[in-house]
Amino acid sequence: MTEPKATTTMEKIVSLCKRRGFIFPSSEIYGGIGSTWDYGPLGVEFKNNVKRAWWRSVVQERDDMVGLDAAILMHPKVWEASGHVAGFSDPLVDCKSCKQRFRADHIEGDKCPSCGGELTEARQFNLMFKTFMGPVEDSAAVVYLRPETAQGIFVNFDNVLTTTRMKLPFGIAQIGKSFRNEITPGNFTFRTREFEQMEIEYFVKPGTDESIHEQWINQRFQWYLDLGMAPERLRLRPHASDELAHYARGCSDIEYFFPMGWSELEGIANRTDFDLKRHMEYSGQRLTYFDQEANEHYVPYVIEPSAGADRAALAFLIDAYHEEPDKDEIRVVLRLHRALAPYKVAVLPLSKKEPLAEIAKSIEKSLRKHWMVDYDDSKAIGRRYRRQDEIGTPYCVTVDFQTVEDQAVTVRDRDTMEQERIPIAELETYLWKKLSY
Ligand code: GAP
Repeated sequence: MTEPKATTTMEKIVSLCKRRGFIFPSSEIYGGIGSTWDYGPLGVEFKNNVKRAWWRSVVQERDDMVGLDAAILMHPKVWEASGHVAGFSDPLVDCKSCKQRFRADHIEGDKCPSCGGELTEARQFNLMFKTFMGPVEDSAAVVYLRPETAQGIFVNFDNVLTTTRMKLPFGIAQIGKSFRNEITPGNFTFRTREFEQMEIEYFVKPGTDESIHEQWINQRFQWYLDLGMAPERLRLRPHASDELAHYARGCSDIEYFFPMGWSELEGIANRTDFDLKRHMEYSGQRLTYFDQEANEHYVPYVIEPSAGADRAALAFLIDAYHEEPDKDEIRVVLRLHRALAPYKVAVLPLSKKEPLAEIAKSIEKSLRKHWMVDYDDSKAIGRRYRRQDEIGTPYCVTVDFQTVEDQAVTVRDRDTMEQERIPIAELETYLWKKLSY
């Protein structure tokens, strides 16, 4: 099969992110800490929009889903019950010559991929970050930074059930930070040691799990398409039985064609009743569901669509990146879906002076009530359009000298570069129509 065409290289994305304030290396003035990244003024808006679009699709628009925001630090027994203490590890090998470390399952052959040196035997390395709760640093005080948000949902299953009186099938959604001491982080924000997950645990009657699993796979795939991702750079990959996680009966990954090749965006697993049963065993609490129609208690099965907010954001950014010839130059344009663009509108007065400045400021103030708005009155208008194209702003509103006469502005569309004259009095309604989705 022929591979799709990559939109760009990772170097160009990293450079754009730094230059325009999307993403900075963490602790940069100290030389960085490696594999952690800070979202700048545009990045935080953008990632929030990705999370908002997810929440809207899986919570707001559905009557069978509710949200949760559980703590990162949990009782250490949670991680014994979940299997993470015993089994959440990757095989690690060291090169005896250059001392570099690798995940044994990520390299081919038995020599160091960097220098060809001899490798040590593989040993299991647990990926959970360990720390201590309270002032005493002994084994009784050990806690972990959660490696997945999922367990916060399982341990609250009964709380949510009794407070909401949801009926099966229903789901709980959560967005939050997770931490993994990855052996080989890299590819920018693709694999980091601190990242955000967007997870759903969807509880179903055993026996209905396989068809509901299929439905979730299709719905989650469609979400990326609805937000403008190119279908040729998205694919589904069912897991082979030997790559399934210890809890999973089946799993399909949604993969994106990143600059480094096809890689996982999201996994949608059938976790069966593994987690609820293990938590019943370890906590001694009953985590069953009473099915009134069938008049029976049972432990629900769980379908888990588990996505990464940082990975999704990176993929949307890469997919939106376009370079186009424009006169003698190259126009860089981020064709981000309007729901994801950090700024929805930019207000650009042709002159810094009055009366244009006052009109432009008053338009900016009224639009800010509804959207994130940028204001730029420096340099030539062409340069300002380029800047907005590069950060994905869907609409530029230009206040020019004619505005003083006709109380109208020019609205420029990022993608078509077409311009329309709109009366100021109709501007908000015009933008509402254009920006709603
Ligand atoms: N609860 C299931 C679970 O955590 P996972 O496949 O290990 O499953 C789910 O992780 C998603 O979380 C991945 O598809 C990816 O988007 C994101 N993710 C996992 N590890 C990550 C890392 N080190 N850096 C960034 N994102 C990560």
